[in-house]
Amino acid sequence: SFNLRNRSLLTVQDYTPREFRYLLDLARDLKRAKYARTEQQHLKGKEICLIFEKTSTRTRCAFEVACSDQGANVTYLDPSGSQIGHKESFKDTARVLGRMYDAIEYRGSAQQGVETLARYAGVPVYNGLTDEYHPTQMLADVMTMREHSDKPIADIKYAYVGDTRSNMGHSLLIVGCLVGMDVRICGPKSLWPSEEYMQIAKELQQRSGARLLVTADVEEAVRGVDFVHTDVWVSMGEPKDVWRERIKLLTPYQVNKALMKATGNPQAKFMHCLPAFHDSETVLGKQIAEDYGMDNGLEVTDDVFESEANVAFEQAENRLHTIKALLVATLGD
Ligand code: CP
Ligand code: NVA
Repeated sequence: SFNLRNRSLLTVQDYTPREFRYLLDLARDLKRAKYARTEQQHLKGKEICLIFEKTSTRTRCAFEVACSDQGANVTYLDPSGSQIGHKESFKDTARVLGRMYDAIEYRGSAQQGVETLARYAGVPVYNGLTDEYHPTQMLADVMTMREHSDKPIADIKYAYVGDTRSNMGHSLLIVGCLVGMDVRICGPKSLWPSEEYMQIAKELQQRSGARLLVTADVEEAVRGVDFVHTDVWVSMGEPKDVWRERIKLLTPYQVNKALMKATGNPQAKFMHCLPAFHDSETVLGKQIAEDYGMDNGLEVTDDVFESEANVAFEQAENRLHTIKALLVATLGD
């Protein structure tokens, strides 16, 4: 068995492939137990601090419900709710919170921030999304791909299409190389992951036997895949004035019916970490529709999003089970 006790999760490559798969197996067991109403509590009396410097629906709720299911208590600090980074350094905040809490979740911009918290808190720190990585999302994404495939993990093929120079781009580049999948990363060359991330991916790929293709050619990328992933074209914290250029650069990479058809696989599934721009029902969606005339979605069209191929809501549910597994494995009795 594996001992992940007191470990942090800061990047996608923190854990070995076996440790990563162990967390997925634990998540599957916890999911079954919850459905069967036989879940045992392993986190009674634990105190968990959730720091969000960026907004969240899934990540926050997954941590809160996971803690509640497992008997732990949470403190939620919203994007304006603490001194962190504004009046007090990450180092000092870490030394304060480490004396009160058993673990800390942090979502914000700089990877450096979450790493500093982990260095000085003396308790496990979990990266709930930075500009660089979204590691807890990767647990849910691989779990969801496993659930929707009969193949062994090494035979699963996925493409990530769109803004590949982002937390999700980096994370999906690296996670498949870590666990040994067939990975295609696709977008315009000017938005490819930088050399630093490519280097990490290539080293992992050599160890795991993963296949990796980084290309600007959509047809080449999606041919034969089991899963098509995408993400928003502009991430949280990016300036408003990048919208025009991103729309221009990324429109050829929109996940629409034609792209799904180009997989040649009628069973291919659509995945998205969410929130997704697939219509203009939201405040931001209306704005984009007005400003740029895009009213049938951006990174994904409404017809694909509302089709049978979409497993993004299963993926969202799996955030709960995987985050719970992470907490139980690193903090549980
Ligand atoms: N996928 C994801 O992280 O969603 P939230 O921003 O709602 O947490
Ligand atoms: N790339 C997106 C992911 C949101 C979960 C962002 O950072 O806004």
